[in-house]
Amino acid sequence: MRRAILVLLLLPVLVPTAAARDAAPGGHRSWDDVEHWAKIFDDPSRDEWQKPLGLLNFLGIEPGETVAEIGAGTGYFTKILSIQVGPQGKVYAVDISQPMLDHLMGRKDVVAERVVPVLGAADDPKLPAGAIDAVVVLNTWHHIGKRSKYLSRLAQALSPEGRVAVIDWREGELPMGPPPAEKLPRERVIGEFEKAGFKFVAESVMLPYQYTLVFRLPAKKDTRRYTR
Ligand SMILES: C[S@@+](CC[C@H](N)C(=O)[O-])C[C@H]1O[C@@H](n2cnc3c(N)ncnc32)[C@H](O)[C@@H]1O
Repeated sequence: MRRAILVLLLLPVLVPTAAARDAAPGGHRSWDDVEHWAKIFDDPSRDEWQKPLGLLNFLGIEPGETVAEIGAGTGYFTKILSIQVGPQGKVYAVDISQPMLDHLMGRKDVVAERVVPVLGAADDPKLPAGAIDAVVVLNTWHHIGKRSKYLSRLAQALSPEGRVAVIDWREGELPMGPPPAEKLPRERVIGEFEKAGFKFVAESVMLPYQYTLVFRLPAKKDTRRYTR
């Protein structure tokens, strides 16, 4: 009888719940639960603090460019990129979740014929070599585990004009974003990129909850002027 009670008490520890089994990094829901994430990522009030058009302007993405969004999610920013690159441009939407990519490609506000969905690996964006003018990593860099390996893959994917923008969460208690323990300090991100051979070239302080950092490889030519 005593043993039966002990087993019952230990059951939740021994048998992971469905939620725990499916958990994405950080212990929350699986990324494949698109319906759940769409309510959060595409909440109309997000525009107030995410300022997607201001971000687009700062990043200087031009018509005709080839852009990659790493961790494209439900397509919140991909839709804007797909419009901005114009008919001659292309957006590689990279994600490790096939349901996210399926959802994104089915959105009516995404210009699907300009978007190439890419099912990336956790440590490899699987992008074509030398082809990408701008890589955008929005709220995703802190989810990538083997970042130095990832950076070497990104470096291979960049074109001569290529730059990488990381937008991720500021430290401290904020009304949104991951818990403090999951965040990557801005200085750490800069350090990781510099260690991988990138140069820190610009920063925007426009967003209230996130830092925005731009990097490029020293051998690459970057003639654009960043404003803030
Ligand atoms: C917090 S969401 C951000 C989604 C989108 N960028 C946004 O801001 O709305 C993180 C996304 O990154 C994806 N992800 C996590 N690890 C990844 C990795 N190693 N490579 C590519 N995507 C990844 C997840 O599937 C998820 O869609």
